[in-house]
Amino acid sequence: SVSSAFDFNGALYPLSSSGAGYTALGTPSTPNFDLGGGGGQQSLEKHKSLTFLNGLSLVVGLIIGSGIFSSPASVNSNAGSPGAALIVWTVSGLLAWTGAASYAELGGAIPLNGGAQVYLSKIFGEWAGFLFTWCAVTVLKPGSAAIIAIIFGEYMVRAVIGAEAAEASPWINKSVALLGLLCVTALNSISTKLAARTSDIFMFLKFVGLLSITITGIIVACTGLAYNKSALSITWKTVNWFEGTSTSTSQWAVALYAGLWAFDGWDNTNYVVGEMLNPGRDLPKVIHTSLPLVILAYLLASLGYIFVLPSTVINSSNTVAVAFGQTVFGPLGSLILALVVSGSCFGALNATTFTAGRLVYAAGKEGYIPALFATIGLSPHGGEQRLRLPRRSSRARRATRFISDDRGFFHTPIYAMLLNALLTAVYIAIGDFTTLTTFYGVASYLFYFASVVGLIILRVTEPDLERPYKCWIVTPVIFCCVSLFLLSRAIFAKPLQALVVLGFIAVGFPLYWWRVGSRGGKRQGRSEEGWWKFWRRWG
Ligand code: ARG
Repeated sequence: SVSSAFDFNGALYPLSSSGAGYTALGTPSTPNFDLGGGGGQQSLEKHKSLTFLNGLSLVVGLIIGSGIFSSPASVNSNAGSPGAALIVWTVSGLLAWTGAASYAELGGAIPLNGGAQVYLSKIFGEWAGFLFTWCAVTVLKPGSAAIIAIIFGEYMVRAVIGAEAAEASPWINKSVALLGLLCVTALNSISTKLAARTSDIFMFLKFVGLLSITITGIIVACTGLAYNKSALSITWKTVNWFEGTSTSTSQWAVALYAGLWAFDGWDNTNYVVGEMLNPGRDLPKVIHTSLPLVILAYLLASLGYIFVLPSTVINSSNTVAVAFGQTVFGPLGSLILALVVSGSCFGALNATTFTAGRLVYAAGKEGYIPALFATIGLSPHGGEQRLRLPRRSSRARRATRFISDDRGFFHTPIYAMLLNALLTAVYIAIGDFTTLTTFYGVASYLFYFASVVGLIILRVTEPDLERPYKCWIVTPVIFCCVSLFLLSRAIFAKPLQALVVLGFIAVGFPLYWWRVGSRGGKRQGRSEEGWWKFWRRWG
């Protein structure tokens, strides 16, 4: 069945069948909702290119970003003792894992691009998906990317110019952050493959970085060898594992939030499930490989910090990794660690840009934002077919095989990438991070919670829906309970800010009515056309 009716570029992108990803798995019993991919994200989903390794590096690449190098201070100081901090790392890792396992089931059952956007739309109705998209496109994606970019800038300046420059004026850091953003946006606009390769490379670098922290930590712990012993003398340090453990629930909650930030990003591959070659098999594999690996890597790195650094430094420094390098290897060590951290953040920025661009693209396809953002390639007239790139010689094709897609370069949602980059740049420029992170925590967990509740609902309402992967039902239940606890803590601790978050989400309702409700249940259609005419008239 050719369902190009939903696709505003129908003539240009005839669909092989409704829901490209879905039929690849065979046709299961018909669900009561339409799995046709809504606005027809198929033009990206048609060219499936992502493998297990790409999926893995998208998740690991985003999860390991800034957090493990800079949030140990808030985890350790709030948990109160090294042992309690390790517990917080473990608990937040396991919580992320339960969420990710639940999302793996959703991604297999609804194998379309867009992550929570499609799950919420299919399960609760389009309004829910719209609210998510509204928040994700305007704040969650660009806001979290801005945080990562700023930390990238800070460490880059620290490594290249020096710590004084990094602390002198935020504008130096912010300029470098913008430069990094420009770089990843260019990479992602040029080619999907190039971006995926970048992600793969940085994933390995991160593991190497974390592993070296661990190994160094163990060596130092066992031998007491270190640079400049007189300044910070290190001998076989006896750690009082549970001395000073905090007894206040709110402190534990704060520590948990910091840990969860470091583990956040586990839903990253869900945004591109539609472009995976075999999502039913690979997505759960990605989740069950990446999360245990990251948990292990974080625990080992934390042990490294604990063995090498005095607890006063861990508890107060927000550049723990650099302090680690300085203590063990002196100035050269701090330089190397600063480079490792900025590299890690760069990789995370790349991984989040990859998926954020696709989320914006999907929003364009659904008609939530102007259709321009649902364009593949440079030609705003609607796509690849009209953009006649010169045929590349087979030699050129062979030479660029590793970084170019089958279609050549620029076969990416460029305008969506640009919009995302623009918003991120605004947050980098004006960013106030304490508010941004609170907003991020509350809003993102609200939507994670809703999606996982959706999974449980779907088990009841659609028992026969084909699920290539089915998680243990206790998994989503645990995730829901803990996120409910965290959300309620945040609401009680900072009612005003929580209210702002809810208000912001609520603004999505009138917008929904404007962009979607007014088109009377007809998907895609006049609003796309209308926007397009508007652009043509004024453009
Ligand atoms: N875990 C990442 C870090 O440690 C942050 C991920 C932000 N989340 C996101 N969806 N962009 O830096």
